[in-house]
Parts: sequence; structure tokens; C-alpha cells
Amino acid sequence: MKAKTISISNQKGGVGKTTTAVNLSAGLVLAGKRVLLIDMDPQANATINLLPQGYQTKFTIKDIFYGTELNKAICPSIMKGLDIVPSILGFAAIESELASKIGRELKLKKALNDQVKQQYDFIIIDTPPSLDMISINTLCAADEVIIPIHEFYALEGVSQLMKVISQVKEDLNPGLKISAILLTMYDERTNLAKEIKEKIQEIFGDALLNTTIPRNIKLAEAPSHNQTIFDYASDSTGAKAYMDLSNELIGRWG
Ligand SMILES: Nc1ncnc2c1ncn2[C@@H]1O[C@H](COP(=O)(O)OP(=O)(O)OP(=O)(O)O)[C@@H](O)[C@H]1O
Ligand SMILES: [Mg+2]
Repeated sequence: MKAKTISISNQKGGVGKTTTAVNLSAGLVLAGKRVLLIDMDPQANATINLLPQGYQTKFTIKDIFYGTELNKAICPSIMKGLDIVPSILGFAAIESELASKIGRELKLKKALNDQVKQQYDFIIIDTPPSLDMISINTLCAADEVIIPIHEFYALEGVSQLMKVISQVKEDLNPGLKISAILLTMYDERTNLAKEIKEKIQEIFGDALLNTTIPRNIKLAEAPSHNQTIFDYASDSTGAKAYMDLSNELIGRWG
């Protein structure tokens, strides 16, 4: 079996991409899956959340773009069964350094060879809030995209993201699918939230997940404790929501 590769994408900042990448990965591990999280964001938020304190990385995602085998950059995380390819602040420099290199969009896809994919059930990729070369690399390497949508920003920027996804599909990665839309920081008690949900359902139909992620302060606190939500607050509404999300996606993926 080869891993399914999923990109968590939305160029809007602060919509819950990293929180979702980290806690969905952890939820999938709790459901018995083998998971690799790849941190493609130069902010390295997922890396800081998940790398064991004091862990010295030899290689990071940046090295992959200069020819290091991806296998060599895989590190253990704070959670057994969850591995991570860490990011690094200097990663953003590849945008200019590789600007004139042929095949630059396909570097991550090539790095994710069968040898890597056979070790995992899922590869989850956290992405930066941008639509530049790093994000294009992620879309080229992915089988599916999950788009977290923040209740407050709703569809801002989503049509631009959809345009880029269809360009990537047409030119570079024909198999790419939008697998799911996830509402984050969602308060179903408000009328505004209900309206947004209906609107998104009209546009995306079945891609909209049944599971929504509520606003839950524990989700915001867990990273600074170097924990996933399941270790930090296993009884929280956030933990329940991310476990529901993991199970719903496993159900969809069969
Ligand atoms: N469901 C939630 N409830 C409360 N706070 C949340 C929730 N999800 C995320 N947050 C907090 O909101 C902020 C933004 O979330 P996060 O970092 O996951 O977004 P992001 O899309 O990865 O941002 P960026 O685009 O900068 O990478 C963080 O401080 C995070 O802890
Ligand atoms: Mg992030």
C-alpha cells in the first residue's frame, strides 16, 4: 500500500491549516494509521509544535529542494507513529534561489518516491499562506487537497485558490482532487455561521465535511506546550472534533 498524500491548503493566513495538519495527523495515528507530516511552511509552526524539545535536525525540507533524499529528513515527533519532515525559517529563500531552475514545481513530487510512500498510510502537508512556488510544489505532490475555511473569512480568496488548483490539474498533476472543505473556528449557534455553511454547501456540495471544528482555546494552547490536542486536553471539544474529522476522512477514503 502506498500513502495517500493530502495538502492542507488555503492562501489566507490564520484559517487553521497548521492546527488541522497537526491534529488531523495525530487523530489518524490514534485511529491506527502510519502518518508523515511534511512542514512546507517557512514559519515552521507545525515543526515547533511536533518536534521533541531539543531534537537536533540534520536535514530539513529545504535540503530536499537541493537534492537530499527525503528519507534522510524524516524525524520522529512527540507522538509515536507520527513522523515529521521539519521546516526551517530559511526555506522561503528557495523562491528566489530556484526561480530559474527547470522542473522546480515538481521537486517535492519527485522526492516523495515509492520508498517513502510505502512506509505510511497518509502523508499530510502543511502549507504557507501563499500561492507561490512552495504551494505549487505541494499541489503537484498531492493526491487530494483539504481546504480549511475560517467561518469569519469564509470564501475570501477561495476562488483564486480554485483557479490555481485547476491550473495545476491541467498542466502538472491531472489526478489532483479537492477532497474536502473543512469549516474551522465554527460556531453553529449563530445565523451567520449557518448562512455561510449553506452557501459553501451550494458551491462545493458533498466536498463539505459533516465535521466542523469549533472555536476551542485548548487548540490554541496545545502548541506552546509541545503537545497535540489529544495529549494536552483529550476531553476538549477540539480533541473530539479532530477525532471526528479523522474518522470521517478515513470513512470517505475507504
Ligand atoms: N478551532 C480553533 N479554536 C481556537 N483557536 C484556533 C482554532 N484553530 C486555530 N486556532 C488558532 O488560530 C491561530 C491560527 O491558526 P493556524 O496557525 O492553525 O492557522 P494557519 O492557517 O496555519 O495560519 P498561517 O496561514 O499563518 O500558517 C493560531 O493561533 C491557532 O492556535
Ligand atoms: Mg500555518
